[in-house]
Amino acid sequence: MGHPLFRRKPIHDIMGDKSEAEAHGHQGLSRVLTVRDLTFFGIAAIIGAGSFSSLGGAVFSGGPGVVILFIICGIACAFTAFCYAEFASRIPVAGSAYTYAYASFGELFAWIIGWALLMEYSIGNIYVAFSWSDYFTSLLASKWIGIHIPPYLATSYMEARDAIAAGSTNPEVLGAWNDAPQIGGLRIIFDLPALLINVLITALVYRGIKESRNFSNLMVILKLAVVVLVLLVGGYLIFARDLTGNWMPTASDGVRSFMPNGFGGVMAAVSGVFFAYIGFDAVSVLAEESKNPQRDLPRGMILSLVICTVVYILLALVLTGAVVYGKFEGVGDPLAFIFEPGNLDIPWMQFLVAICAVVAMTSVMLVFQMGQPRIWMTMSRDGLLPPAFQKIHPKHKTPSFSTIVTGLLVGVPILFTDKTFVLDFTSIGTLFAFVLVCGGVLLLPRRQRSAGKFHLPYFNGGIVFPILLAAALAFILFRFPGYFSELLNGDFTNQTKAENASDYLFAAPAVKIATIIFWITCFVLAGFAIVKKYSLIPLLGLVSCMYLLTGMSAENWKWFFIWFGIGLVVYLMYGYRKSKLNEKVALS
Ligand code: ALA
Repeated sequence: MGHPLFRRKPIHDIMGDKSEAEAHGHQGLSRVLTVRDLTFFGIAAIIGAGSFSSLGGAVFSGGPGVVILFIICGIACAFTAFCYAEFASRIPVAGSAYTYAYASFGELFAWIIGWALLMEYSIGNIYVAFSWSDYFTSLLASKWIGIHIPPYLATSYMEARDAIAAGSTNPEVLGAWNDAPQIGGLRIIFDLPALLINVLITALVYRGIKESRNFSNLMVILKLAVVVLVLLVGGYLIFARDLTGNWMPTASDGVRSFMPNGFGGVMAAVSGVFFAYIGFDAVSVLAEESKNPQRDLPRGMILSLVICTVVYILLALVLTGAVVYGKFEGVGDPLAFIFEPGNLDIPWMQFLVAICAVVAMTSVMLVFQMGQPRIWMTMSRDGLLPPAFQKIHPKHKTPSFSTIVTGLLVGVPILFTDKTFVLDFTSIGTLFAFVLVCGGVLLLPRRQRSAGKFHLPYFNGGIVFPILLAAALAFILFRFPGYFSELLNGDFTNQTKAENASDYLFAAPAVKIATIIFWITCFVLAGFAIVKKYSLIPLLGLVSCMYLLTGMSAENWKWFFIWFGIGLVVYLMYGYRKSKLNEKVALS
């Protein structure tokens, strides 16, 4: 056996623990979900603040070319979804990527993934709650309702403080800062609607899966209907009013381009775009509530991802066609914004979209708030978290204690953080979890096919991957001859403006360092793929998620490492000592 930090949990033990827990009075969750429910859950989790809110910033940064990033992210997520599906079919218990890592990489990595998933589920929900509040507040303030919440009760303290420090002239922020009541010199500024929606969602999740499912399905139907309406109305008007020229806006050098800020501008939008995709993996935490998890989880995950990818590509095209990309600066409600006076000017659509955004984001919060407690429940079964985390409510059959802790974890930071920080933090943590899931599938032994279960199709990566790598290199050398000399020239000073085609990828030093590491890893992986005949799909998933990580800034990486440092301390102080695997080693 290797070092205890890397002790692995065999798959038959994982399945056995679950049955044992059920037999010893830890009652199981209700098995009520079908493939349709799971697909709906996927869509409920995916389409939310990413499309309704962060898309504005992404479009401003990348221009119409952001469509390319949606395609890249869609491909990366599709490969990853296949890997999740493979794991979900082999290990249909509620812990998602955490459990998968326990079986493949060992305990330390499992803990790290559990810790990263906290960034995805809980921290991600903070962003969604803030965005929910933005739309909700402007909906209330619309001429149809006319209720105005004072800005100091609808803004986060950090956002107001930073904006004032940066000399913002935004009347909302100024109002929040100047009108806020003070206690002992401290301004009372917080986002009340964000807090309230969190309380409401926590209560709903606490009440139980069946109620949540019905509620969630209804919301998904509504939001898909409105998104389709936006696509139809927006798409029609782009052609009817001859706005197609917006797809080739004029860049700062005067040339018309699909990517007015170059590829660097497109890649700078990675946090926002990737955030829009997060959620398909949340389906996998519902393993213990699915009627036939081994067949339905993979289907639900992949179906929801495909639907959302198509929706996103069309949405990005409609947005950038309807309004020239440069107008999206600071726009937090881009889907409603395109219908404002001065843009497409259709007030009823603006109102409808705002209602839909509120609904869409409610459903995202619901799914994530359900996911987090289920992961903790599994970690607690393994002894890595205290036993209270696996307690299931006798009447509601939900992980009650974990649900309340999740509510607190989302609610309390709402008082101390802001949107930008949590968006970046969530995206980097989730991408990292995806990298580990794809890597984990590479390490799994192959298995016999059995009817009714999902099987990841096997293609020999040892042949295809090196060919693809060589093709990518040939393309880069042909198309951007200066790419590698620029990458390796040792100059890590900050280049804010790309001067030529090869520079544009390295507008920030962190991007350059991450890109060098990316290429080295690709070559190493190609070597391993040849020797070990690795499966192609997880290999491509791994590489594409790693590529997306190269778009992260130095600030993102700093917080990422701090977060993992804290996680490591917690693990060594509690999980390492209390792990159930300790007992198993002692008994054997
Ligand atoms: N993809 C989810 C959203 O956009 C997290 O809200």
